[in-house]
Amino acid sequence: MSNPTDLDISYIDPDDLNNNTSNNPSFESVLDARLSRRSVLRGSVGTAAAAVFGSLAASAAGLGEEAVAAQREKLLGFKEVAKSLADSVTVPAGYTASVLYALGDPLTASTPAYKNDGTDSDYENRAGDHHDGMEWFGLDNNGRPSTTNNNRALLAINHEATTDEKLSSFFLHANGGTSSLPRPASEVDKEFAIHGVSVVEVRRKGAKWEYLKDSAYNMRLTALTEIEIAGPARGNPLMVTRFSPNGTKTRGTLNNCGTGKTPWGTFLTGEENWAGYFTRPKGDDAAREGNKSVTALVRYGRAEGASTRHGWETAGKDDRFARWMNAKTGTSTNGSDDYRNELNGMGYIVEMDAYDKTRLAKKRTGLGRFAHESAAFSKAVPGQPLAIYQGDDSRNEYIYKWVSAAKWDAADANPADRLAAGDKYLDHGKLYAARFNADGTGQWLELSPTNPAIAAYTKYPFADQADIAVNTRLAGDAVGATRMDRPEWGSVNPANGEIYFALTNNSNRRVEPSGSSQLAPDSANPRAYSDIKGTATVQAGNPNGHILRMKEGAAGSAATSFTWDVYLFGAEASAAPGSVNLSKLTGEQDFSSPDGLVFSPSTGICWIQTDDGAYTDVTNCMMLAGLPGQVGDGRKVTLNYPKADGGVLAVDTYVGKAPTPDKLKRFLVGPVACEITGLAETPDGKTMFINIQHPGENTVQANIADPAKYTSQWPANVGYGAGKRPRSATIVITKNDGGRIGS
Ligand code: FEO
Ligand code: CA
Ligand code: CA
Ligand code: CA
Repeated sequence: MSNPTDLDISYIDPDDLNNNTSNNPSFESVLDARLSRRSVLRGSVGTAAAAVFGSLAASAAGLGEEAVAAQREKLLGFKEVAKSLADSVTVPAGYTASVLYALGDPLTASTPAYKNDGTDSDYENRAGDHHDGMEWFGLDNNGRPSTTNNNRALLAINHEATTDEKLSSFFLHANGGTSSLPRPASEVDKEFAIHGVSVVEVRRKGAKWEYLKDSAYNMRLTALTEIEIAGPARGNPLMVTRFSPNGTKTRGTLNNCGTGKTPWGTFLTGEENWAGYFTRPKGDDAAREGNKSVTALVRYGRAEGASTRHGWETAGKDDRFARWMNAKTGTSTNGSDDYRNELNGMGYIVEMDAYDKTRLAKKRTGLGRFAHESAAFSKAVPGQPLAIYQGDDSRNEYIYKWVSAAKWDAADANPADRLAAGDKYLDHGKLYAARFNADGTGQWLELSPTNPAIAAYTKYPFADQADIAVNTRLAGDAVGATRMDRPEWGSVNPANGEIYFALTNNSNRRVEPSGSSQLAPDSANPRAYSDIKGTATVQAGNPNGHILRMKEGAAGSAATSFTWDVYLFGAEASAAPGSVNLSKLTGEQDFSSPDGLVFSPSTGICWIQTDDGAYTDVTNCMMLAGLPGQVGDGRKVTLNYPKADGGVLAVDTYVGKAPTPDKLKRFLVGPVACEITGLAETPDGKTMFINIQHPGENTVQANIADPAKYTSQWPANVGYGAGKRPRSATIVITKNDGGRIGS
């Protein structure tokens, strides 16, 4: 949500939570002399920029007409689009963007068309709300899995959340719905169903694309779908609930944000701001009698009495409502007669087989429990383990890496049982959290009972690996991981394997922090400044965010050390170049709050998508195309912050080579009050799908009866569908000359 209008908890952006009150270090306090020798790693950067173009040329060589065209094409040859406040999607001249699949669109032949007036129902058979991460699962002309066909596929799409001002998902209900407690069951049942995931078949029809409402592949996961618990926490006492007394199942996936696509062809969906959907009653701490679960619940933002985002727990006595109230009310010792442990069933990377809706999805607990964004795979190299890079998007949270115990076997690229391959690579391995050092090096710190820092952690004594899988943030605290400026999506550069992370912003960086949630700038999160929004609003901290990148040590995916720098600092082009606009962004490329970040497998372009509230006085959210170099291609900068006592806080950081406009350029601007997110493309790179999330989300609920007062009427204003209520939607982008997207 943006534009908070009062201090009611339900108005606070759930992305903006801060639950990390550990004393984990800022860099200056962790400088370890032993590490300085690792700075030599910084010298070992390769020539990856050359590799980008070299690999394109190589793949073009001898591959016929298309490849020759690819060789001739100039990536980022398009003319940048201007910043814009228009209620429309703008793409460069020579490109076409059209709406494909929006909130409420039917997914079965018998589901009625969407009226978009708040009277629709049967959302289990419709597109969900707040389209987010998305992956392409190709089909051949006979409807079987294909990695090469460019004309037909399943899109697996996250439906993260819903537009709300206070409790109610107001565009879904005829009069805006009930914004006080208790919530009516009829409204809450709709809200359950618009969360989760959809799988929808899409096809090219002539020059256009359409989704198939009657495809047998179409499916939905919602907040109530039965899902298996897999990995170390399966069957653990922490997972025992009234619904699953043996701790092997739960219901629903929630706040699905970023995605991943496994090398064996399944879909990964990350559960992000799930915690705010649950609550606990006052008195629950005492009922738990000092049990360490209270420490865990508080670390995940659920102190007793915490308010819920939608009040689902108030809609009735039925179990589907009761589960959102996490209280020790039963008499069992293990929680098999209540929902005291229900929160432990949410917060994972969930794997599903997009091609087979008969299979239950699986929560891969080994990858840890936090506010997940994307799951970015290392390059799959036969004989080496797979690494998966993950961010925890809350202020001051950590970056993580999973390393599979199994070594990659290329035969698993096309397995008979895709979820069994998931069991092999996602249930057994090691989990690490990242520490970034001031000299440009870093360590992956293992989250395991055998790590002495975890064994000695008295604030929360870990029982076993399952306890670490469920209470991962506490394990990150224990090992001294680095608290970051809200890690969003990660992606791996196919040209050189370097890992990129969008750090979207952090309103709590301060040169002189106060309280437990503010932090001083450090080397990997080095900026604390003031930005003016509109005429007077002062935005403090790191309001524009940055994009960090990392290069693994010699052991590759299994490395426990890395080097890093900052690819880009978000900034207004006019901001001070020595302290804020460190990447020297120009008007063709300035941006704020990077969030989605995806390298195109086809072109190698780094696509950067924003979810911003800081620069939105000047422009709606956008997508940019980048052609980055590599870690270490820029310079060391020391930022000197004056302090009140006359001293100076000096922060060293490493700024990537400043991008000229032919290396970073704005490609798209979205409608009013939306976020740009999700990216999938055809194997040939000539069709791109992205998502427009929550256009018009800053509409005031009281104006529901007056469409003229909606801050956006997209996509109705471009002729898509009935009604005028704004709708999240997937759009499809093609180039009019048939070229690749980004050329
Ligand atoms: Fe759902 Fe942090 O973005
Ligand atoms: Ca500004
Ligand atoms: Ca996001
Ligand atoms: Ca977001």
